[in-house]
Amino acid sequence: MYNSLKEIKRQIKDSEKIILNDDNILSYGSNRICYFDEANPSQLIKIARHPENWVKDHRQSFSEWYISTSLVTREKDCRISHCQGWVRTNKGPGLVVDRIVDDHGQSVTLRKLLFRRELTVEQAVCLVENIVGNFSTNGIPASDFNIDNFVIEGEHINKKLIMIDGFSPKKINLKTQLLLKSKTLSNCYTNRKWRRTKSRFTYCAQKVYAGDYRFAAATPLSDISNRSSGI
Ligand SMILES: Nc1ncnc2c1ncn2[C@@H]1O[C@H](COP(=O)(O)OP(=O)(O)O)[C@@H](O)[C@H]1O
Ligand SMILES: [Mg+2]
Repeated sequence: MYNSLKEIKRQIKDSEKIILNDDNILSYGSNRICYFDEANPSQLIKIARHPENWVKDHRQSFSEWYISTSLVTREKDCRISHCQGWVRTNKGPGLVVDRIVDDHGQSVTLRKLLFRRELTVEQAVCLVENIVGNFSTNGIPASDFNIDNFVIEGEHINKKLIMIDGFSPKKINLKTQLLLKSKTLSNCYTNRKWRRTKSRFTYCAQKVYAGDYRFAAATPLSDISNRSSGI
């Protein structure tokens, strides 16, 4: 963990400062806000909701970056959004990730697909179980099966979902390193996490499918106009 954080801080320090504008917010979750990067439209920059406390808000980013960079040379067809590295911005440290888009260039989450009734709840469960299968092949230890953490890639008819958050344990520690070394352990981990979340996932999907779009969504952004760099 110590070495990873050192490397992350080095990348942030060495990066040119990127200026992000709140008009370029794509979306947000409980801990992070995603900005379009005008210079690189195929990428997003994830910023901590509270830049002054970025190490806490970016905890998931650290382990996603760690898993993504450990896997990228090994496996190609894994259904995660790859992390490219860390940058310095006027909103604090940012994680650069590949932006997942459909054939119209939109990033459409599983929440939206359910709300629009493009997918049924049963189909959503089945698609996530496909991803769990893909993760077994690739040895990805996923922990957070939430309807906002899946985005559709390419033509909707293909129903190809990508996990854009939660495809790693919450922290980088010895357990994370062991999970990356053993597909058997990683599969047990991912399957256990999915089994434990499945009923909650299904309940949330049912609520959204029934028309309650906001059900269990991240709390809205409060005033972000004064957010500034924490590093
Ligand atoms: N790689 C990506 N491609 C497209 N959209 C994304 C991507 N990453 C995040 N998003 C959008 O931003 C939202 C919040 O990002 P997320 O990483 O899930 O933050 P949090 O950790 O706070 O939940 C997602 O629910 C999704 O709508
Ligand atoms: Mg999320």
